[in-house]
Amino acid sequence: MKIAVIGTGYVGLVTGACFADLGHAVIGVDKEEEKISRLNRGEVTIYEIGLPELLSRHLGRNLTFTTDTDEAVRESEIIFITVGTPQGDEGEADMSYVVQAASDIAGSIHGYKIIVNKSTMPVGSTRLVERVIKEKARGEEFDVVSNPEFLREGTAVRDFTNPDRIVIGTESQKAAGIMAELYRPLNAPLFITDPASAEMIKYASNAFLATKVSFINAIANICEAVDADVKEVAMGMGYDHRIGFEFLRSGPGFGGSCFPKDCQALIEIARSSGYHFYLLEGVMQVNREQIRLTARKAEIRLGGLEGKNIAVWGLAFKPNTDDVRDSPAVEVVKLLLEGGARVRAYDPQAMDNVRGLLPDVEYAQGALDALKDADLLLILTDWDEFKMQDFRKVGEIMSSRDILDARNCLEPLTIRRLGFNYEGIGR
Ligand SMILES: NC(=O)c1ccc[n+]([C@@H]2O[C@H](COP(=O)([O-])OP(=O)(O)OC[C@H]3O[C@@H](n4cnc5c(N)ncnc54)[C@H](O)[C@@H]3O)[C@@H](O)[C@H]2O)c1
Repeated sequence: MKIAVIGTGYVGLVTGACFADLGHAVIGVDKEEEKISRLNRGEVTIYEIGLPELLSRHLGRNLTFTTDTDEAVRESEIIFITVGTPQGDEGEADMSYVVQAASDIAGSIHGYKIIVNKSTMPVGSTRLVERVIKEKARGEEFDVVSNPEFLREGTAVRDFTNPDRIVIGTESQKAAGIMAELYRPLNAPLFITDPASAEMIKYASNAFLATKVSFINAIANICEAVDADVKEVAMGMGYDHRIGFEFLRSGPGFGGSCFPKDCQALIEIARSSGYHFYLLEGVMQVNREQIRLTARKAEIRLGGLEGKNIAVWGLAFKPNTDDVRDSPAVEVVKLLLEGGARVRAYDPQAMDNVRGLLPDVEYAQGALDALKDADLLLILTDWDEFKMQDFRKVGEIMSSRDILDARNCLEPLTIRRLGFNYEGIGR
């Protein structure tokens, strides 16, 4: 099939490359000329495992990139909208990029097209995009379909090609049939429903996962007080298949470009429909508190932050991505700096993206280089590279053998045997 993908960010680029790999002809569109020139030169603009291989396999063949929405829409049968829906001033999803994209698409529609809302959009957005397009593309035949994306950064290519389910929200049988055909090679459960339910499924799923994270963080804080180990507790809970092991890892709080903004947007969707979502407000409150508690733990270990040297490993919101949007690591580091600490940090992929957000941090060349004169090592993102360090060497470089492992990614016994003071979260 012929596909256009409007917005070549984390979701759009992966979507386009994966559809090309399934044999479709894909045109990726972005407003940012620099991004499109880099992609056309074969440079991958984000860090995502498996993406460089897909790009080099298909670029210039069945995968091309342009800034020209008009040309991409004319050439395509299915047009995916994958632009950002960031948090607006009141916590709601800012739909201006979507409305602009829909308006750009509308002018170029000739003949039947399916426009797919893949970005995370509040309930009613399928209708909204329909209205925007109808106004400009009078008389043209088209359907707008909600098809939310569930991929996770860091495993995006694998998630896109092996989804747990594909959700299609439409009342058009014709569109549902074409979408089913498009995704057929993935061999995944297809869940066809109405647009409002499809839109709600995405928000409800993210809010539920965020709730699990805040729940286990709350349990972790109790574990510390009663001398239990949250890792043991989560493992024991996870064996219950009604609960499961996933998203029960305590840490410095959830972050990233989705959970915080989607939870906030759902609170706003609820509020504007007359329901007060106390539960989700609590989830957000626990999360904000967890970030503060992590910085406070460092302060307590050091007996105050003023003038202390802290080595930080990890700035991305999770491993295997260069994304630092709403990263709890960034928030924790800000609190440490505010308290007067000196921070020397290292992240394998996120340093270029974080410099503007944290200009007062000293950036190291590598994990060991971050440890020079350190009074404390604080692990904020659990990259494999950190877990596999030679901790004998780590101890030799640091001023003081003190580790605060905010991701619970090290084995406390092994680390303590090497002469470190070790503290995790909830252990
Ligand atoms: N990042 C994730 O892990 C993830 C996962 C699932 C869903 N989502 C949702 O997908 C959407 C996109 O997220 P993202 O992380 O890929 O965002 P992003 O910011 O990485 O990418 C958006 C891209 O759209 C481009 N753009 C904006 N307006 C445009 C226009 N009119 N025409 C062409 N290009 C335009 C921007 O230049 C940018 O490159 C959001 O709604 C997000 O909530 C994200």
